[in-house]
Amino acid sequence: MISLAVFISGSGSNLQSIINKIEDGSIHAEIKVVVSNNPEAYGLKRAEQHNLHSVVLEHTRFADRQAYERELLRIVRDFKTDYVILAGFMRILSPYFIHEFQNRILNIHPALLPSFPGLHAQAQAADYGVKVAGCTVHFVDEKMDHGPILIQAALPVLPSEDGESLGKRILKWEHKIYPQAISWLAQNRVNLEGRKVIVKNAKTFFLGPADDPVLISPGLEEKFF
Ligand code: GRF
Repeated sequence: MISLAVFISGSGSNLQSIINKIEDGSIHAEIKVVVSNNPEAYGLKRAEQHNLHSVVLEHTRFADRQAYERELLRIVRDFKTDYVILAGFMRILSPYFIHEFQNRILNIHPALLPSFPGLHAQAQAADYGVKVAGCTVHFVDEKMDHGPILIQAALPVLPSEDGESLGKRILKWEHKIYPQAISWLAQNRVNLEGRKVIVKNAKTFFLGPADDPVLISPGLEEKFF
């Protein structure tokens, strides 16, 4: 059983997908604490509904980034969490925090990295006119949206689509690949070789149904579909 801290800033739909898969026994993990930098985040309500401990830590109340991250570190250390899961956390973590949790911080990004890092990735992809879009779960390193990639889901972009409609279709697959990635960590099946992430005994790929096409690599397991 691994213990997690989940950092959020908004709706927390990814947090919800992780909670659901922990509660149905698909992930052997415990969420020790949910941290939000935004007191209005709907994800805080989700945490409350599932009796999870949550902490609001508003960055605006701290003198500088390091003071803020010192407090973040204190919280994750106090809760003795193995991994920090960034789920729509809209703050960039500096090397000060990342070094302490080297290879133990995951992020989900709504694009096929290394394309379209940064904000509004779904709109960036739709406006650019790419024909394939998707989402990525990766380890966090010192550069934004850059660390070693654990799993990606790719889907065709429809001709009529804008950033918003594309984003909705991507989000659906975020909710499947993030719990899957965390379950692999919980089963100690994830090895890092430089930038390359090897998931032991994973299928090479998963192909979604013809009416909802998606390609996921490594392969999504049935219980996460
Ligand atoms: C997701 O699209 C995620 O990829 C991005 O922020 C969004 C968070 O959504 N990093 P939610 O708060 O999990 O609903």
